[in-house]
Formats: sequence, structure tokens, C-alpha cells
Amino acid sequence: MTASLIDGKAFATQLREQIAAEVQRLKAVEGLTPGLASVLVGDCPASSVYVANKAKQTRAVGMASFEQQLPASCDQATLMTLIEQLNKDPRVHGILVQLPLLKHLDSAAVIEAIDPQKDVDGLHVINAGRLFTGSGVPLVPCTPQGAMMLLRDSLGDLTGRDALVIGRSNLFGKPMAQLLLQANASVTMAHSRSRDLPGLARRADILIAAVGQAELVRGEWIQPGATLIDVGINRVPGTEPGKMRIVGDIKFSEAVELASHITPVPGGVGPMTVACLLNNTRIAACRQSGLSAPKIAGF
Ligand code: GUN
Repeated sequence: MTASLIDGKAFATQLREQIAAEVQRLKAVEGLTPGLASVLVGDCPASSVYVANKAKQTRAVGMASFEQQLPASCDQATLMTLIEQLNKDPRVHGILVQLPLLKHLDSAAVIEAIDPQKDVDGLHVINAGRLFTGSGVPLVPCTPQGAMMLLRDSLGDLTGRDALVIGRSNLFGKPMAQLLLQANASVTMAHSRSRDLPGLARRADILIAAVGQAELVRGEWIQPGATLIDVGINRVPGTEPGKMRIVGDIKFSEAVELASHITPVPGGVGPMTVACLLNNTRIAACRQSGLSAPKIAGF
């Protein structure tokens, strides 16, 4: 079997088009322009590229973008003061603090300082708790939201499927498992210290890898016909000397021969993250303005 490719890039483009149309309606009918503030501390090149890309896509769908950059020397109090200002600013409906923060800063305290209604990363304990308990309407973390959209689009109903999530981060693994549970999948959570990962993987109809280990999941781990979602973005030496290339957590060339559906890296889950950030920003803007937010792709 050769798997069908799950085209996250094309899905994300369609999603951004739907969000742009909704933003246009909000502006025209409600006089509401959703606004996203991004906070970057220091000048890590990778984080700078991510934040610049988020700002560009925010403006492209017609939202307002407020970019805040603080020097690497910034202290906790300065960052907390900025968060308080953004919490109070009525033009700002979503706040994203680019992670990881520098070591001298306390990320947990920063995340807890964000108004949960503006927490478009879905990392605040209020949003994590709502997702966990199913009470109230959480803002759902962006990458698992995107992975869920792709899974539903490829497979439809997930009821009764055996899903394995490898990786237990707050940003991805834990919320992904909750979304799969809500969709009535049977969920196993594994991580880099799990015993017999290949054995767990072989039982999975849906395998989701988010451990940050290049090509960890091999072809012989895959149940024939499984659906594979690869969240890894790993830089490894390329074929030409001095050049790097990006690979996922799944060995694509082997897995593609066995799976029924697979996300490529790049071009799979990656582009969904920013599109879902914009989705969360328009949802947050509606809720803060007392408007109901129509669902797009199930969220
Ligand atoms: N760093 C890597 N991914 C993310 C993300 O989804 N949100 C934030 N805030 N930082 C990140």
C-alpha cells in the first residue's frame, strides 16, 4: 500500500480563506476587527522567523497584528507588566508569548498571567482544565486543533479507533489526547521513556508522533492501513555537505509504504498551527464581544 498524503498546506490555505471571510463579516456587520498580539523576548533566529510569519498571516486575513519585542535582558517584572497592558487593551483579543522563553524567565507564571479569554495558545490552566473536564468552552491549543481537523477530514468519525500519542507536552501531546478522547477514540499516551514503543505503535490505527526525535518511528512499527500524523520538525544533515534538511519523527520513506494516510514533513501539520492560531483569535474576539463564533472545520 502507498499512503495518501494528508495535504496540511492546502487545508491550511482553505482554512485561512474561511477565516478571512469571517473576519470580513465581523468588520462589516459587527464593527469588530480581531487583534492578535505576539510577544518575542530576545532574538533567537528561529523564534523571530516564526513570530514574523504569524504577524504576516494575521494581517493577510484582515486582523490587526501587534508585535512586541523585548530584549533578551528583559526581567520577569517587565514581561508581566507588558502582559497586563495587553490584557487590558481592547484592540487585543489574543496574546501569544513565543516559547520557549529564555531560562531566566518563568514561563508558567507568564502563561498564568494571560487573561484566559485572550490565551489563544490554550495553555492557561483554565483552558487546559476546560478541555480536560469538558466543562465550558476552552481555547484549544493550535497544533492539536490542526491535527484533529486533518484527522477528521481524512477519517471522518474516530469512534472506537485505537490512537497512540507519542509525546506528552502541554502544547501538544496532552491536549491531543483529550481531543481524541472527546472524539471517542481509545487513547494511549506514550513518550520517550515508554517501554516497547514499537509494540504500542503496532496496535495503533492512528499514530501521532510529537517527540522531537528525527525518524524515531520506523516502518516495522506501523500497523498496515494506519493513519500517521507527524508533528516532528527536526533538522538533520542533508545529502549535500553543509546543507540541512527537515525531517519528522516518522521515517517517511518506510511508513508511506504501509500507512493509509500520512502527513508529510514539511507541509503536513506545520502549516495548520498558524491557521488555527488565527482561528482561535477570531473565536476569542467574538467571545469577548458577546458574539457567538460560528464553527470553522469543527472548531
Ligand atoms: N513555540 C513553538 N510552538 C509554539 C506555539 O504553538 N505557541 C507558542 N507560544 N510558542 C511556540
